[in-house]
Amino acid sequence: MEKKRFRSADWFGKASKDGFIHRSWMRNQGLPDHVFDGRPVIGVCNTWSELTPCNAHLRDLAERVKRGIWEAGGLPLEFPVMSTGESNMRPTAMLFRNLVSMDVEESIRANPVDGVVLMTGCDKTTPALIMGAASCDLPALVMPGGPMLSGKFHGHDVGSGTDTWRLNDDLRAGRIPFEIFQEAESCMSRSIGHCNTMGTASTMAAMAESIGLTLPMGSSIPAADSRRWALAHMAGRTIVEMVLADRKLSKILTREAFENAIRVNAALGGSTNAVIHLIAIAGRIGTPLTLDDWDRLGREVKTIANLAPSGQYLMEDYYYAGGLPAVIRSLGEHDHLAKDALTVNGKTIWENCREAPNWNTEVIRGFDRPLAHSGGIAVLRGNLAPQGAVLKPSAASAQLMRHRGRAVAFENIEDYHCRMDDPALDVDASSILVLKNCGPKGYPGMAEVGNMAVPLKLLKKGVTDMVRISDARMSGTAFGTVVLHVSPEAAIGGPLALVRDGDFIELDVEERKLHLDVCDEELERRRSAWKPPESPCCGGYQSLYVQHVLQADRGADLDFLVGQRGLLVLRESH
Ligand code: FES
Repeated sequence: MEKKRFRSADWFGKASKDGFIHRSWMRNQGLPDHVFDGRPVIGVCNTWSELTPCNAHLRDLAERVKRGIWEAGGLPLEFPVMSTGESNMRPTAMLFRNLVSMDVEESIRANPVDGVVLMTGCDKTTPALIMGAASCDLPALVMPGGPMLSGKFHGHDVGSGTDTWRLNDDLRAGRIPFEIFQEAESCMSRSIGHCNTMGTASTMAAMAESIGLTLPMGSSIPAADSRRWALAHMAGRTIVEMVLADRKLSKILTREAFENAIRVNAALGGSTNAVIHLIAIAGRIGTPLTLDDWDRLGREVKTIANLAPSGQYLMEDYYYAGGLPAVIRSLGEHDHLAKDALTVNGKTIWENCREAPNWNTEVIRGFDRPLAHSGGIAVLRGNLAPQGAVLKPSAASAQLMRHRGRAVAFENIEDYHCRMDDPALDVDASSILVLKNCGPKGYPGMAEVGNMAVPLKLLKKGVTDMVRISDARMSGTAFGTVVLHVSPEAAIGGPLALVRDGDFIELDVEERKLHLDVCDEELERRRSAWKPPESPCCGGYQSLYVQHVLQADRGADLDFLVGQRGLLVLRESH
């Protein structure tokens, strides 16, 4: 049988001056003759960085992937791309998701790579790497870094982010001193890995697994568990098989795969950020996906994973209970799964999960005893959000799901910080906090500030939740009755920009309604008087971003990056 010729042979397989150049320089890494025999070359695309603590162990994990690649007869070549660490980057890591995706796409296309393993962890690293690889449409597999072990503090488990917000409220209300607050720092983050709640990192790893891009359990095994190393080894073997079988992303990222991911997100009570990221990924591979798909598909699925921030447990408990395969099995048994969707190992998602055990039905509940009856993401519309806004019912307060209240409006996040704890602020528990100019163009980058803390004077009275509305995002680890991603955003003149203190706003989640109770004539008057806010954009990449970023309902990708460009044949440079 004729030997298969891979793309990398255009570099390493030539008996010419160019072939000499491509091979010769690689030999300075100690590569012997036989590795240039036409075997698949596998890029290991790494977001390792000490500035991204959630991904700081990914160089070690990549070594395990490489073992598997060598063992299966491939040639592994690791390369770095920009890393987006949620806890350190300013103004927000989201500003750089699209930049990283460009880095990934162009690094793959420019180099002799036949398949790629995407080493991901912290929130934006997962969508960014999938987006970049999807635009190239080559065989690709996601290898997540895994969550941290459960935090342990004063005899209790503490979850990343979720308990930070709680402890911060305790500190602000004077219930704990600063020393106790500080002590929790090291207790919460006590091992390698990303956030140990079902925040955005865990959600996006679960999205990668449910669209078929990781091996089974890829999103669930703790980072510090040796079984993740074994999985990385198997990921290395699998990507070589994928290249041999030409199992490229467009064969896996089908409409059915995305529908499965939306239902999985509902069953998990996953992050609202998944909405934006999945729409952006679908846009890159050319699969239609809209906000309405999120509402329709998630609405009928109950939340069965009892995980923070919606529920009680952490990712370590979830893995011991059976992890994502147990959740997917449950979805399949209740007719909420496209069972034939293909995954990276060549099997369907149902073949991978149909016998997955559930060892703890308190952590992964049954559909007869769910954590929330209406899981999923509610997509709200009305004169305040003509292109949509989102709310996560499983993390919201039941008594606020239908609410009419007086707006307390903040022009931007600085205005909010300045006035939120002012004793003179005219606010009560029934008020609705409105935050403007934190959308994709306005911030820029659409920061995770939508879960505004409850004003101090209300916190002291025991108020823990109120309706909050903004064009921002919120951390996947956060909770509350929070309306996010209002589109179009205030900075481009969306109706949110026209809200004034004292306006009445109606929220009705069941009816999917978000209405500003101000007559059309008055809104028109305000619109004619509206002036765009001064942009905080500081030039450089930020200018490119602000000029081209799409609104949240379209995934906040850059308009010129949407779509698949494949692995074009590139000119030689010598
Ligand atoms: Fe990195 Fe939460 S800060 S995953």
